[in-house]
Amino acid sequence: MKLSTPHLLGIKDLTREDISLILSTAQQFKDVLQRPVKKVPSLRDVTIVNLFFENSTRTRMSFELAERRLSADVLNFTASASSVAKGETLLDTVNNILSMKVDMVVMRHSASGAPHFLAKHISCPILNAGDGINEHPTQALLDAFSMQEKTGKLEGLKVAIIGDVMHSRVALSNIYLLTKMGVEVTVAGPPTLIPKHMAEALNVRVEYNVKKALQWCDVANVLRIQLERQSQPLFSSLREYNQAYGINRRMLESLNKEIVIMHPGPINRGVELDSDVADGPASIILNQVENGVAVRMAALYLLRVNREN
Ligand code: NCD
Repeated sequence: MKLSTPHLLGIKDLTREDISLILSTAQQFKDVLQRPVKKVPSLRDVTIVNLFFENSTRTRMSFELAERRLSADVLNFTASASSVAKGETLLDTVNNILSMKVDMVVMRHSASGAPHFLAKHISCPILNAGDGINEHPTQALLDAFSMQEKTGKLEGLKVAIIGDVMHSRVALSNIYLLTKMGVEVTVAGPPTLIPKHMAEALNVRVEYNVKKALQWCDVANVLRIQLERQSQPLFSSLREYNQAYGINRRMLESLNKEIVIMHPGPINRGVELDSDVADGPASIILNQVENGVAVRMAALYLLRVNREN
């Protein structure tokens, strides 16, 4: 089995088969990660650069760990400490790095479409680690892996994506992936944070009442309020957001059923999610982080195999 694409730019470009292949390969790597010796030689002599033009904790460490577990050589690049600050273009930066014989690029950028632009100009595999408000494909893959692991299925599952849907690349990648895999999706949150026409364009339901969305779903994937991406206020205050749309234990208990709580991190505690839920029994947030390494190992490995054959 092979991926249908030379890059991982977004879930939009993947087929159902691609997604299933990445998820099943990730399960094999997850099994490897339970062993005392966690390292495999799959990407020995492969050099990977992590190009981070935007802040990151989890995603960057997760990619680096995945690369090291696959025995790749790893090069790290942080834009704020580089010649980008001196005015170098993206393409010049990348071409300079590639001339040092780098084989794969992992990239996060604040501009939507930056990795797609790069893919038109360079030939090595590119993995998108988040581009602006567009996509974050490995996050959606690790979210799907974690949902499947916890509930035993994807097809027929009901997932609510709650919060700042408008500014979230995690939301868009999740919607593409889940709808391709036969999951029913509802997006929920304040009307100002849900793009108009989303329901028709992306085949999801829209619900402005968070409690109703929770009542309906099996899994709630809760998003961070992305204040840094809001050029004008889209709700009155964080306190009022928490009161109207935040999720707390009292609310979960009133549902009279169990649901799974997810969050891609970083959490704004007391805003979209209260600590009694984030750290409570319904939460699989740290499992998501754990699964991220296996999922990224799978994506890196499959893209490299594609290139070799
Ligand atoms: C997300 C991101 O950067 O898009 N975080 C992540 O990768 N784990 C979500 C966010 O920043 O809220």
